[in-house]
Amino acid sequence: MQQHTFQLQNGLRVPALIFGTYKTAEEQNEDVLLTAIEAGYRAFDTASFYGTESYLGSAIRKSGLAREEVFITSKLWKTEMGYEGAMAAARRSLEALQTDYLDLYLIHWPLPDPDYADWKALDLETWQALEELYDQGVVKAIGVSNFHPHHIENLLAHGRIAPMVDQMEYHPGHAQEAAVAYCQARNILVQAWSPLGKRRVLGDPLVCALAEKYGVSPAQICLKFALQRGIVPLPKASSLERMRQNRDLFSFELEEEDLYRLTCMPPVGWSGEHPDRPRVRLT
Ligand SMILES: NC(=O)c1ccc[n+]([C@@H]2O[C@H](COP(=O)([O-])OP(=O)(O)OC[C@H]3O[C@@H](n4cnc5c(N)ncnc54)[C@H](OP(=O)(O)O)[C@@H]3O)[C@@H](O)[C@H]2O)c1
Repeated sequence: MQQHTFQLQNGLRVPALIFGTYKTAEEQNEDVLLTAIEAGYRAFDTASFYGTESYLGSAIRKSGLAREEVFITSKLWKTEMGYEGAMAAARRSLEALQTDYLDLYLIHWPLPDPDYADWKALDLETWQALEELYDQGVVKAIGVSNFHPHHIENLLAHGRIAPMVDQMEYHPGHAQEAAVAYCQARNILVQAWSPLGKRRVLGDPLVCALAEKYGVSPAQICLKFALQRGIVPLPKASSLERMRQNRDLFSFELEEEDLYRLTCMPPVGWSGEHPDRPRVRLT
């Protein structure tokens, strides 16, 4: 599985499937992460906001894997933006993860809150810190998360280094085609958070019909949908069985017409989060 990778614009290879660590089973974080390693995952998505960095660091250490065998992504939170804030955040993340470098470091959201007027200046200051961390080799690649094209334009116009990754919500029923197309036209690798729509998509009639057609689970349909669109899915799961199932994506191929169906199906499973809007609480 780990031989499947996507290449970033700086040449770095990113695993095609990354384990998501947000809300890994409460109070069993380290065990869940050790199980994910047992299941074969070698790439992990964490963030200062998740509180899982220290568990991930410990799990990697306990697993006996060498640092270079693992691909670690982390992100700085809304309260850690700005040049000094980002530099300090990176130091804290490295310490929590017990490592001296990150494979990928992202700005988690483009705005601290939707009313923040001077977000362009704040993003640029924050980005400048990431550029410096990249120059120093402390982070091997840099990118953004939840940035829409107008947020990225600001970095492309005024930054020195273009973002290499944009991590956004992506699943059947919320395919964000405009943002994906924008990124892919500029060689910015898209990563899919909540690739299963936090399970909200798994009962959708089309997803279920395709699961039956291909003889796989609805979750596998969602993950393969991202992969075949050139997007890295970041599924989170708690059991060894699900973790293994989510990695078993290379024995089948979705037909193009099914990819179109999934891309164009009615909206379903949106988290309620949008960078420029207050969060919508959905039941
Ligand atoms: N950048 C951002 O702003 C952002 C935001 C949200 C998430 N993320 C990242 O994306 C990762 C994944 O997103 P997510 O955790 O929100 O949602 P998700 O991966 O779409 O869904 C996780 C849910 O699906 C269940 N599940 C996993 N595999 C399954 C399978 N094969 N069959 C049935 N159910 C299955 C899990 O249950 P169990 O756990 O009970 O197995 C869990 O309830 C996060 O962990 C985080 O790393 C990033």
